[in-house]
Amino acid sequence: MSKNFPILVVDDDDRMRELLVEIFSDQGHQVIAASDGDTAIRAILENKFSLIVTDLKMPKQDGMAIVRQAKAVDAELPIIMITGHGSVNSAIEAMKQGAYDYIEKPFDPEQLKLVANRALRYYQLIRKNRMMNSTLNDLRSHELIGGGSAMQKVKRLVAKIAPLDVSVMIQGETGTGKELVARLVHRNSRRAGNLFLPINCGAIAVNLLESELFGHEQGAFTGADQQKKGLVELASAGTLFLDELNSMPAAFQAKILRFLQDRSFFRVGGGKELRSDVRIVAATNVNLAEEVAAGRFRDDLYFRLSVMVLRLPPLRERPEDIPELACYFLRKYSSLYEKKVDRIDPYTLNQLVDHPWPGNIRELENVISSSVIMTTGTAITSASLPDDFRRGNLVTAVEDSMKLSDMEQTMMRKALQRSAGNKARAARMLGIDTSTLWRKIKRYGL
Ligand SMILES: Nc1ncnc2c1ncn2[C@@H]1O[C@H](COP(=O)(O)OP(=O)(O)OP(=O)(O)O)[C@@H](O)[C@H]1O
Ligand SMILES: [Mg+2]
Repeated sequence: MSKNFPILVVDDDDRMRELLVEIFSDQGHQVIAASDGDTAIRAILENKFSLIVTDLKMPKQDGMAIVRQAKAVDAELPIIMITGHGSVNSAIEAMKQGAYDYIEKPFDPEQLKLVANRALRYYQLIRKNRMMNSTLNDLRSHELIGGGSAMQKVKRLVAKIAPLDVSVMIQGETGTGKELVARLVHRNSRRAGNLFLPINCGAIAVNLLESELFGHEQGAFTGADQQKKGLVELASAGTLFLDELNSMPAAFQAKILRFLQDRSFFRVGGGKELRSDVRIVAATNVNLAEEVAAGRFRDDLYFRLSVMVLRLPPLRERPEDIPELACYFLRKYSSLYEKKVDRIDPYTLNQLVDHPWPGNIRELENVISSSVIMTTGTAITSASLPDDFRRGNLVTAVEDSMKLSDMEQTMMRKALQRSAGNKARAARMLGIDTSTLWRKIKRYGL
């Protein structure tokens, strides 16, 4: 164990206090001493200690007051109480209040060291655990999972490009994480405090695309009964994510190019030239350079948007990331579905690593999520994998979280039918507890 912890010792008896200081200083710890409760409490508020060793009986603020104060600052900070000979009752009271342990006067210094070392180890564990949990939370919200060299390279590039305020083109097959990366670029830029607005260029008819992006004035066309601001205007100072740029209608490519040249635009039906300071991040699931070469995409637009190109490798080219990703999604969905599934059996994991994953990370995410639903034990086995996967012809159609909840509902309906409405049995079949089933029945209105 590392020997350098900040320790607070509190005792109103000078000789006793000096002994305590000596014991812990000799062990290499940084010791702060206080001769009364008030001084001790001030020290607790001003410093971070790993251990407090305090006398119980002191005039005014006693050891109990110190326990209460310390617990308010950090509920897990260990406190060792030094009690008078034969005062077991107050020792028990101190433990009830949250003291870690007690030691009776007179004590053997070796015994105190033992108890103190145990307390310090305990606190180290608690802190390590806290740190892990906070990293886990971080991962959940914005990390790109994948420790393999290809993903490391992507992460380094994102970190480099994000703050530069240049246009970024993200290229990758479906489900490789293009939108996730686009959001990361935004979050790591000076625009992070402003809006990130996505628009799917392939999903909107060309005439609507113009009003979506640039807005329109009242009466600009039938149905335009009031003025509307477009995404370009709304995302000013933020980031506009042009998703599926490759499917942007040719007729619109010239219009967006004009905007990109000087960041000025007109609302549809508007006569006033407006400006927007928006950063463009675009995504494409085909090699846009090839589209340009084949004459299917404007080269001038391509050149303007591809100042920086980020290529996301398909999952089959980096199978080394599959175990980590699978475990990440396992944690995510077992907590979402409130199931105690916490591992994937080795044979099944191998199957996952060997799969070609045409739908990439999204497909892997869907397979894990439905496996978590299907699993009755604590481990995902081949039997819990979706039928399609086991047959080797998994439908790679895009499934979103809406469909996941559909899937969950279907499973619940089946279980309820098979158990003839017996909730406890249905819950057992689904491998969840009855209260969870009740909650979900209510949520889905089954
Ligand atoms: N490296 C990663 N770590 C963790 N989750 C990831 C990673 N890459 C992708 N995902 C997850 O996979 C799913 C698909 O990612 P995303 O929507 O960003 O893909 P996409 O490339 O935009 O796909 P499409 O081309 O189909 O729109 C999302 O749920 C995303 O959070
Ligand atoms: Mg996408």
